[in-house]
Amino acid sequence: MAETVHRHLGTPMDQMTWTEAAHRLGVGVTDLVTWARERGAFCDADLDPGLDLVPSEVADAIRGIDEEKAKPSGRRAQVFAVTSGKGGVGKTSVSVNLATALAARGRRTILVDVDLGLADVHILAGTPPRRTLSDFVAGTAELVEVIGDGPRGLKIIAGGSGVKELADLDARGRARVLDAIESLRPHCDAILLDTGAGISSNVTDFLEIADHTICVTTSSFAAIADAYGVVKVLAQRNTPRSVHMIVNRVRSPEEAEQVFRKLQGCCQRFLGFELNWLGFLPEDQNVEGAVLKRSPFCEAFPTSVAARYLQKLATSLEGYLAPMPSPLG
Ligand SMILES: Nc1ncnc2c1ncn2[C@@H]1O[C@H](COP(=O)(O)OP(=O)(O)OP(=O)(O)O)[C@@H](O)[C@H]1O
Ligand SMILES: [Mg+2]
Repeated sequence: MAETVHRHLGTPMDQMTWTEAAHRLGVGVTDLVTWARERGAFCDADLDPGLDLVPSEVADAIRGIDEEKAKPSGRRAQVFAVTSGKGGVGKTSVSVNLATALAARGRRTILVDVDLGLADVHILAGTPPRRTLSDFVAGTAELVEVIGDGPRGLKIIAGGSGVKELADLDARGRARVLDAIESLRPHCDAILLDTGAGISSNVTDFLEIADHTICVTTSSFAAIADAYGVVKVLAQRNTPRSVHMIVNRVRSPEEAEQVFRKLQGCCQRFLGFELNWLGFLPEDQNVEGAVLKRSPFCEAFPTSVAARYLQKLATSLEGYLAPMPSPLG
C-alpha cells in the first residue's frame, strides 16, 4: 500500500519517509503507518503493493478507519508502569510476559522500554530492534518508525542499551518521550512501560503519566524496603493512583502473602496508603530458560508454573481495561 502511496506521489520509496508521505497526503503519520501495518506492511522494505489506491483514496480510507475505530467507545489505552525499588527483581520478565499475554488475548498492546540506557525488553522478547527509542530521542526517527513487532501481535518500542545519552536524558528529552507515549493512547488498549529501578526522575516521570503502577518485589528484605521507598514517593503525589504489588520468585503462596502483608502494614501505618494486591510469580527456572531461548516464558513454556501464574496476573490486569468489543457489534 505504501508503495502505491509513494508511486502516486511520484517519489521513489527509498527517498521518502513515512513523515513526508503522511504530510503530502494530509494525514497523521501515526495513522498512515498504523493503516499500513494493519494491512501487513511493517517497514519500508516490506510493503504491500497490492492495494492500488490513489492518494486521496488512501487518505479517505485512513480517516474512515480512524472514525470507525473511534466509534465503539472512544477508548484510550490504560498505561501500566512496571517498576521496583531494587534492581533485578523481575520487572522486565514481568512486563514482557504480561504484555505478550495481553496481546495474545486480543488486546492491542504496546510495550515501551523506558529503562533509559539499559534496555533489555527486546532481548527477553526475542525481537532485535531495527530502530530504538534512542533514534527517536536523537530526532533521527519518528515515533512510528521505532515501533517494532513482538510476539503475538505485541508492539514493542525498544530502548537503547548502553546509550549514555538516554541514561543522562534531561527533563526536556523525557518530556518528549512522555508526549510520545501519550500520543499512543488512542491507538491501543494497553501500554506497558518497563522502567528502571529506583526513585530518580528517570523512573518517576514515567510513573507520573501511568494510570497504574505495578511494583515488583522479591521477598528479600532489601527489595521489600526499597519497594516501600517507591510507594512512599507515589503516596506523596498530588493525585495518588493505584499501586499494584507483585511478589516475584516466591517458593509458596504463603511467602508471597507474608511479603504483601508486611508491606501493606507499613504503608497503611506510616503513609496512610492502601496497596493493591495483583499477585505473585513463583521461582521457576523456566523464566531464565526462556531468556536463553529469546522468547517470553509464557510462549516458550506455556505450561510452566510461572506461565500459569502469569496468566492469572494477566487476567487481573485485564480487569482494568475496557471490555472487548463484542464480535457481533
Ligand atoms: N520468577 C522467576 N523465577 C526465576 N528467575 C527469575 C524470575 N523472575 C526473574 N528471574 C530472573 O531474574 C533476573 C532478573 O530479571 P529481570 O531482568 O526481569 O529483572 P529487572 O527487575 O528487570 O532487572 P533490572 O532492574 O536490571 O532492569 C533474570 O535473570 C531473570 O531470568
Ligand atoms: Mg529490567
